[in-house]
Amino acid sequence: MKVLVTGGAGYIGSHAVRELRDAGHEVSVLDDLSQGHRKALPPEVPLVRGDLGDAASLARAMAGVDAVMHFAGLLSVADSMADPASYYRTNVVKGLALLEAMSATSVRDIVFSSTCAVYGMPVRVPMDEDHPREPINPYGATKLAFERALADHGRAGSLRAVALRYFNAAGCHPDGSLGEDHRPEVHIVPRAVDAALGLAEGLTIHGEDYDTPDGTCIRDYIHVQDLARAHVLALEFLRGRTAEGAAFQAFNLGTGRGRSVREVIQAVERVARRAVPVRVGPRRPGDPPRLVAAVERGRRGLGFEARQVELDPMVESAVRWRRDHPQGYGPAS
Ligand SMILES: NC(=O)c1ccc[n+]([C@@H]2O[C@H](COP(=O)([O-])OP(=O)(O)OC[C@H]3O[C@@H](n4cnc5c(N)ncnc54)[C@H](O)[C@@H]3O)[C@@H](O)[C@H]2O)c1
Repeated sequence: MKVLVTGGAGYIGSHAVRELRDAGHEVSVLDDLSQGHRKALPPEVPLVRGDLGDAASLARAMAGVDAVMHFAGLLSVADSMADPASYYRTNVVKGLALLEAMSATSVRDIVFSSTCAVYGMPVRVPMDEDHPREPINPYGATKLAFERALADHGRAGSLRAVALRYFNAAGCHPDGSLGEDHRPEVHIVPRAVDAALGLAEGLTIHGEDYDTPDGTCIRDYIHVQDLARAHVLALEFLRGRTAEGAAFQAFNLGTGRGRSVREVIQAVERVARRAVPVRVGPRRPGDPPRLVAAVERGRRGLGFEARQVELDPMVESAVRWRRDHPQGYGPAS
């Protein structure tokens, strides 16, 4: 099968490209390289360097494609609060352009990178897929808006979609060739690793007075390779669906285990054998104390179970990547 991966030069998308090719699929990528890196892609993978909202780029990227994995988007909660318009434009309006291009080429199947931010403040933990969806920031709101667009297109009979609601992606490819290189970096694992390795000044803990055992926020960290594997399973799930099956389905992707910020820092210190310089700052508005995935639906529906549930090996792959690539993929590509 030929799969178009939007955002395939980014952190999670590049791991999915690898996993798809390992599963025997042909891959092409649409990415504007605003955050992605050409070096994260094998040279033989065709890249259309263009904007998701650009009809000509989309038409080129869709040629000969059987299915789409849609990773391209903006993903910082803080940025989305400061600049909601960009988030609605990229994550919703440009996403709709992708759906139009799929419709024009009669491509029906799409796997979408969604997020646990669609749920908002937890009313129960772990959070299952039927948990109320009341996002508390524009990032989550735009991801939910696109999920709703997918569900409506599904009801209209024009596509079949799986939305994968990731919790916190972490880790890097075990062979050391792919890693996390966001600029600026917004995620805790690479930030803690950089602080330990002396590549960044230090790490701020945003609040240590939550109602959790050590007072810091608890999150569900899932290895990026597990995420990539789940995408291939989601594609197989879509291809195996009968016409009567619901055309839109959402699945959480997490391990079902919660780890505190302090536990992540301790894991980085153990693995890197270096202290992480930390300072404790105030809480960030809108940070729930606990976000942990209920994982039963993914287990039953996709046959997915995270293989990497321990923090240390996850962190180990991230440390190896930053040790070997202190400049990430190098100068912007
Ligand atoms: N990283 C996480 O922990 C996490 C958690 C939940 C959900 N997600 C979702 O997963 C997806 C991928 O996340 P990531 O961490 O790999 O991010 P990333 O920034 O590394 O990858 C996104 C890619 O999309 C590209 N892109 C952005 N805007 C584009 C546009 N207008 N046109 C074409 N390409 C564009 C970027 O260049 C980049 O390569 C995102 O949609 C994000 O919302 C990520």
